Amino acid sequence: MPALIVGNWKMNGLGEDIAEIAAMAGSGGRGLWIAPPFTLIDRAVIVSAGAVKIGGQDCHANEKGAHTGCVSAAMLADLGAGFVIVGHSERRRDNGETDAGVRAKAIAGKAAGLEVILCIGETQGQRDAGETEAVLAAQLEGSLPDDAEALIIAYEPVWAIGTGRTPTLDEVAAAHRFIRERLAARFGGAGHGVRILYGGSVTPANAGELLRVDEVGGVLVGGASLTAQSLLAIAAAA
Ligand code: PGA
Repeated sequence: MPALIVGNWKMNGLGEDIAEIAAMAGSGGRGLWIAPPFTLIDRAVIVSAGAVKIGGQDCHANEKGAHTGCVSAAMLADLGAGFVIVGHSERRRDNGETDAGVRAKAIAGKAAGLEVILCIGETQGQRDAGETEAVLAAQLEGSLPDDAEALIIAYEPVWAIGTGRTPTLDEVAAAHRFIRERLAARFGGAGHGVRILYGGSVTPANAGELLRVDEVGGVLVGGASLTAQSLLAIAAAA
């Protein structure tokens, strides 16, 4: 399985930045996935011309209804999006998202025909307290959908996001092995087919070594995904 490189633009990007997605699509970016802000999805789908898969950074758990300001998975699919990220730690923090709420979003994403990237990860305090595995197990327990179809897990230690700090390769390997065990315990054979991404301060300089770690099936990239130059360098490292 070739590594999957996913860019999460977070709350970044105006119309002029669509040129970056066009550049990714035009030069060796085939197979990249990008989650721009909702406002750019429509244009991103058009300029990517199928070469780059475009997705959402979040969705509502309901298909439609009285939820001012929210966007459903069906709406993302309607725009031509192919995937959705759910449970990102910034949403858990800023919007009080719970594991049960993340699970509902994952189910909604799958029902709309999207691939779902479900994010989990421990805080610095939890790691220092030796709780990393307990936290990952609880997040998986509470937020996994009922089957492994169209499911991708992103392991993103909260303390590594946007900080320039990454876990050691041994720590990444241990976390990914643990997640794989839990997926296999939950889904049996299908749990072995679920891709597990690493995310948190991935750059062109460290992507190669991270991607060589056992059970790392790709990377979820924030800051370094904003320009074609940087994301294509990460893809080249893969
Ligand atoms: P970062 O963000 O690469 O800027 O650390 C990663 C993420 O939040 O997915």
